[in-house]
Amino acid sequence: MTLELDDTWKPLRDAALAAMEMAYAPYSKFRVGAALEATDGRLFAGCNVENASYPVTICAERVALGSAVAAGAVEFRRLYVCADSTDPAPPCGMCRQALTEFAPDLHILSEGTSGNRVEWRLFDLLPARFLLDPPQQEGRGS
Ligand code: THU
Repeated sequence: MTLELDDTWKPLRDAALAAMEMAYAPYSKFRVGAALEATDGRLFAGCNVENASYPVTICAERVALGSAVAAGAVEFRRLYVCADSTDPAPPCGMCRQALTEFAPDLHILSEGTSGNRVEWRLFDLLPARFLLDPPQQEGRGS
């Protein structure tokens, strides 16, 4: 099923595809690109970054999220993902938990190499998120 993209998604798609080209995936050969849109309109892109010590690998979605938070963005609207799979890939469980910290109902669109797209709400992918009452601390997040 191919979901039509409205024009507002196009910058996210372009950024995700460009990031996918930068993927460092010599082990899996599975490239992923992600573009995260902050509520202030800024876009943050990420690609997967693999490592010879496999669990050290970081997914594209969390690279995009880290880049956003480092730039001061902590509220997000939409995420576009593209990957080297025929069918659109949903974010993995670890990325769902990472994203839900900031945007529990994030609107996600994913595209596979077939050109097909699927959309989800993060809440439907992770309805019961893990939360902690954070300890009081100085600085951001407190
Ligand atoms: N990967 C992502 O970048 N995002 C996901 O949500 C799932 C998996 C990457 C990690 C690894 O580099 C490759 O895909 C194969 O698992």
